[in-house]
Amino acid sequence: MSKKILWVGFAAAALVLASFGVQAADHAYAGADKCKMCHKVQFTSWEATTHAKATDAAKASTDRAYTPDCLKCHATNASADLPGVQCEACHGPGEDYKKMSIMKDRDAAIANGLVIPTQATCDGCHVGDDHAKKVSLADNLGNKAAIHEFKNPPAK
Ligand code: HEC
Ligand code: HEC
Ligand code: HEC
Ligand code: HEC
Repeated sequence: MSKKILWVGFAAAALVLASFGVQAADHAYAGADKCKMCHKVQFTSWEATTHAKATDAAKASTDRAYTPDCLKCHATNASADLPGVQCEACHGPGEDYKKMSIMKDRDAAIANGLVIPTQATCDGCHVGDDHAKKVSLADNLGNKAAIHEFKNPPAK
């Protein structure tokens, strides 16, 4: 099987499972620090993004007053305990997939809650109103200031 066909297959599987994941919502969040030890490249570059600092930005806001309601887009799982748009806001709650034995098997990771982000992932927060403008995932895939650096860049 060619790499490209394999990729399309994976993406389709991820999409189906991601939509189940949203409904099931039975995986717990681990927090970005738990991803750091195995994904240093992504963690270090993510830390520099505005996503990582989104809770502080909302709290410091002067034009609209901060309320806990801001956290549904300016934090992870709408929780002040998970500040910033962390790994799991885009990749799904990781408590059940973060184990090495599961992580190294992509299908098992996805079955345990890993999400390969799609445009719909971004649309969950970038809803397209005056405040939260729409963003294109395709246009931002190479934008490490918006996402993070990749170790194994996604196939095009
Ligand atoms: C014990 C080590 C370990 C931990 C902890 C870990 N991962 Fe992974 N992860 C891996 C390995 C190994 C792979 C597969 C090879 C690779 O991409 O480096 C992987 C792959 C991935 C992928 C790529 C999936 C794909 O095929 O496109 C994502 C996304 C990911 N991990 C996210 C996370 C997130 C988010 C966390 C924290 C909740 C996390 N990982 C925690 C080891 C780990
Ligand atoms: C529906 C999701 C959503 C909600 C709810 C939300 N925001 Fe945002 N916010 C975003 C997005 C997405 C961006 C960045 C993209 C953009 O500028 O369009 C953003 C950007 C910001 C910025 C940075 C603007 C800049 O110039 O860098 C501030 C400050 C902010 N929001 C404050 C707040 C406050 C305060 C609240 C609660 C009253 C709030 N937001 C609620 C999604 C949201
Ligand atoms: C949990 C909500 C959430 C998700 C999911 C999310 N974002 Fe964001 N995004 C934000 C918020 C909030 C900001 C504003 C951060 C700030 O300025 O403090 C932002 C900022 C951005 C910015 C910078 C905008 C600017 O002008 O500074 C880009 C680009 C962006 N996001 C792209 C994406 C992409 C692409 C995806 C999907 C892979 C995505 N985002 C997923 C909430 C989210
Ligand atoms: C704003 C959304 C967003 C956030 C936040 C985010 N990622 Fe990603 N990540 C992506 C996207 C988009 C891809 C590419 C997906 C694909 O394969 O098409 C990706 C790919 C990856 C990959 C596989 C490619 C590679 O680099 O090997 C890993 C591993 C990963 N992310 C880990 C993390 C970790 C760890 C964090 C937190 C430190 C994190 N991500 C935070 C959106 C995000």
